[in-house]
Amino acid sequence: MSRTLVLCKPDAVERGLVGEILSRFERKGLKIVAAELRLLDADTLARHYEEHVGKPFYADLTAFMSRSPALVAVIEGPEDTFAIVRTLMGPTNPASAPPGTIRGDFGTLMTENLVHGSDANESAEREIAIFFPDLA
Ligand code: RTP
Ligand code: MG
Repeated sequence: MSRTLVLCKPDAVERGLVGEILSRFERKGLKIVAAELRLLDADTLARHYEEHVGKPFYADLTAFMSRSPALVAVIEGPEDTFAIVRTLMGPTNPASAPPGTIRGDFGTLMTENLVHGSDANESAEREIAIFFPDLA
């Protein structure tokens, strides 16, 4: 078994797409083991997106991610659950994400791409510890 961190980003919550997104993970066969609506602060986002701190898009990214609540969740499945979730999400840029993926079906903008999923098992472990320290 393995776990990964998912964020339904503020655009997904604002647009009423949380149920749609979580149901895709559930229908795939994955399990929600934690979920909470949270307004993310600058410190939490700096820890979560530590690899992006200082990049040109960082200020826009954190302004977007903190403008309204996100749905923070932990998803569980077999080995490499992070990769299953990333496949269902689609590529970072919704403009080139194929139909059938979350970003391909519901997004148009790189800056508002609906969902985050950890990009490796090590990232998942690190990110889950940030948002759900009791689960780590
Ligand atoms: P995320 O972390 O949010 O799940 O997205 P990701 O792994 O697919 O993409 P990542 O490279 O981690 O980038 C995080 C978010 O920053 C924005 N971004 N903008 N302008 C740019 O070159 C650029 N690169 C990344 C995107 O909104 C991306 O989701
Ligand atoms: Mg990423």
